[in-house]
Amino acid sequence: MVQDARTQQREKVIEVLHRARSMELHAIHQYMNQHYNLDNQDYGEMAAKVKLVAIDEMRHAELFADRLEKLGAQPTTDLPAKVLKGQNVEAIFPFDANLEDDTIVKYNQFLMVCRENSDSISMKLFEAIIDEEQVHFDYFDSVRAHIENLDGTYLAKIAGTSSATGLQTQGFVARQGGGTPQRGA
Ligand SMILES: [Fe+2]
Ligand SMILES: [Fe+2]
Repeated sequence: MVQDARTQQREKVIEVLHRARSMELHAIHQYMNQHYNLDNQDYGEMAAKVKLVAIDEMRHAELFADRLEKLGAQPTTDLPAKVLKGQNVEAIFPFDANLEDDTIVKYNQFLMVCRENSDSISMKLFEAIIDEEQVHFDYFDSVRAHIENLDGTYLAKIAGTSSATGLQTQGFVARQGGGTPQRGA
């Protein structure tokens, strides 16, 4: 029956949306832990940027949740992995660059699942979010390279900078002048 085929297609899309939402929730926790950590180590500017990236991930988690609700599913709250604690500044940036790169690879696969199952709305959502994950990757990877190549000189410049982000809710990508279009926009 046509209806059964459509239900099966929808189930496949729902599955990848749950997985993506779960990855976003993990990234939020991981980056929040890191920004407290960086702030404690007095790397204020990095702490502020990692916090803004966490805010982007919150927006992504909500966008996936909105889509799941539209498809009649209750958004997951499960985390796919444990949050690592106590990472030092040298460990954080290669770890995060990897996490973003892995997310880009997986979201490209999820996007294909949406296409194969005739859900272009979910497909476009993945496409827009992948663009933002790429901005995150570029930031994490450039800091990773600076720390690796300039070592103490780079970190010395960051030490003692402010971690203030102000009373606003815009994340990292929006401050770079980009961003995923909001619903209804
Ligand atoms: Fe994200
Ligand atoms: Fe990200």
